[in-house]
Amino acid sequence: MPATREAAERAEALRAEIERHNYAYYVLDAPTVPDAEYDRLFRELQALEAQYPELQTSDSPTLRVGGRPLPEFAPVRHAVPMLSIKTETDTGPEGARSFDARVRRVLGLEEGAPPVEYAAELKFDGLAVSLRYEDGVLVRAATRGDGETGEDVTQNVRTIRRIPLRLRGAVPSVLEVRGEVFMSRPDFERYNARQRALGKPTLVNPRNGAAGSIRQLDPKMAAERPLSFYAYGVGETRGWQLPASHGGVLDALEAFGIPVCEHRVVAHGAEELIGFHACILALRDTLPFDIDGVVYKVNALVLQERLGFVSREPRWAVAHKYPAQEEMTQVLGIEVQVGRTGAITPVARLAPVFVGGVTVTNATLHNEDEVRRKDVRIGDTAIVRRAGDVIPEVVAVVKEKRSGSEVPFVMPTTCPVCGSVIQRLPDEAVARCTGGLYCPAQRKQAVLHFASRRALDIEGLGEKLVDQLVERQMVETVADLYDPLRINAEALSGLERMGGKSAQNVVEAVERSKDTTLARLIYALGIRNVGEATAKDLARHFGSIEALMGAGVEELQRVPDVGPVVAESIAGFFAESHNREVIARLQQAGVHGKAEARSAAPRAVLQGLTFVLTGTLPQLTREEAGALIEAAGGKVSGSVSKKTDYVVAGEEAGSKLDKARTLGVPVIDEDGLRQLLES
Ligand code: IVH
Repeated sequence: MPATREAAERAEALRAEIERHNYAYYVLDAPTVPDAEYDRLFRELQALEAQYPELQTSDSPTLRVGGRPLPEFAPVRHAVPMLSIKTETDTGPEGARSFDARVRRVLGLEEGAPPVEYAAELKFDGLAVSLRYEDGVLVRAATRGDGETGEDVTQNVRTIRRIPLRLRGAVPSVLEVRGEVFMSRPDFERYNARQRALGKPTLVNPRNGAAGSIRQLDPKMAAERPLSFYAYGVGETRGWQLPASHGGVLDALEAFGIPVCEHRVVAHGAEELIGFHACILALRDTLPFDIDGVVYKVNALVLQERLGFVSREPRWAVAHKYPAQEEMTQVLGIEVQVGRTGAITPVARLAPVFVGGVTVTNATLHNEDEVRRKDVRIGDTAIVRRAGDVIPEVVAVVKEKRSGSEVPFVMPTTCPVCGSVIQRLPDEAVARCTGGLYCPAQRKQAVLHFASRRALDIEGLGEKLVDQLVERQMVETVADLYDPLRINAEALSGLERMGGKSAQNVVEAVERSKDTTLARLIYALGIRNVGEATAKDLARHFGSIEALMGAGVEELQRVPDVGPVVAESIAGFFAESHNREVIARLQQAGVHGKAEARSAAPRAVLQGLTFVLTGTLPQLTREEAGALIEAAGGKVSGSVSKKTDYVVAGEEAGSKLDKARTLGVPVIDEDGLRQLLES
């Protein structure tokens, strides 16, 4: 049965509406409808198209879920070839200077001539594609191939929701958009996490993810992998008066509804290019996608034409790289490290490799399951990643490079440092040494943590010194640091790499560290699951180490962000008699940890609220409670009315409490008040 006019109109309206929501969601990042409503519209359109196949247009959003698998990709000849650009391998400022110098020379600019105007943008690390729009409708998407002929990947590209199937506004009759398809890091991590949970193969990196799904013959598989796209140029155009500059072209593409990255500028001369290169480098680790450099393009299209090409590369553009974040190297061995809490971490010893700006010789393998999942063996060739401040990790091994003599890793059953049994609880990924503070490795880590900058900040107490102190049994627990019979200038100056002066400095630093805050002291103890923020909350709530030690798990859970797990580890820590002993000795030595003045963090959490105090509170006097409320921006009133927000009631509260009940004013106790103050 042919489609009714009503059905045709409805399908048309649905297509337009769904694409409008897609644009808002994927390009503007500002969703306009709830997911459920979107799904409803989508299913309605799918049903209409199933009933009347002639209603299915080439720009229908239903094509985004993937069509029939292809036997192979059809070749596509590019009307305008897809070229590559020269790479400036010097990752320093010279990279920009030599490009600018070349441009000026070819343009015949004198030394005093004004700086050349450039468009500077990011170099995305994905797969180049060309999108052909005819009368505003996406008709074909092709890979670069050899530059002259690529592959028809239209079905797969249609599954990328950021790519419009129909352009907005008054559009050219033919517009080929050139840009990069890529997978964002968060999408990559999410995809891999799901694959792992399903026991399916994971992707090595986002670029392989993007390339793999674009070149996937089954578009349903491609649709499952979340991809993104940014445009960086145009190919063939017809019926369009091109803007005068490259920046203008990108602005126009953006207006047509095509995603263009916001990190782009117009720069004048080499020095501004260098500034852009440095600025993006600083931003690199915060970007949600990988870049391997920046790209500079002469901005004026007339100048681009004058500059022309050399051997298929434009003279008007260059890629200026950053140090790679992933490199290949040899796995020389796999050892295990023992952390402060006894966690056993397998670590790959690597042939030195320059990656992410430093020479790396070790990379974490996280845990036993990771080693098995990635199948890392001694002798393997591995891909090592180091991005920003993150510890280097082995992302994958190159199995094609195996000779057959590689040796699999076996998790030791006893601690390599103290010989205690290594235990792995059934539902934990991490194996632990059961030696506790008997284990010198854990002891060293505990002392280093105690002395670290954000803990007691004992300057000069570094790894080399702590190794010796623990190995010679001069320090068995952190309290020993304050024992003058163990730690004194004379004893220290007898150690390796310690002169009289540095020994004296350490002794003084230890002395100075006694004057510390309660929050730092709690953090320094190294209680499992207690980081800096929790330590601060605990200090604020309990006010003294004794109060904290005396608290049960229930009381502990009244502290913001302390749940059952954290409460258990705190209570467990203080239940250990040797931990209580260490704290007693610290206190004897004068390390108390001062509670910070309450007024130190005035936060107006009670702003606009009126309180009435009545009865005797368990710990605070009325004056103290009133001062706390006022310090937090609240008001204290003497009588209860409808305007009262809370009545704080203690023992023997009288008529004010009755009045609160009749008026329906909330009544809280001292604990309730503390919770409000901490909220
Ligand atoms: S312009 C004629 N701009 O890098 C100039 N390319 O060799 C054509 N790429 O695989 C390329 N980001 O896919 C250009 N902002 C950008 C780019 C970019 C990434 C890729 C491109 C190609 C390679 C260039």
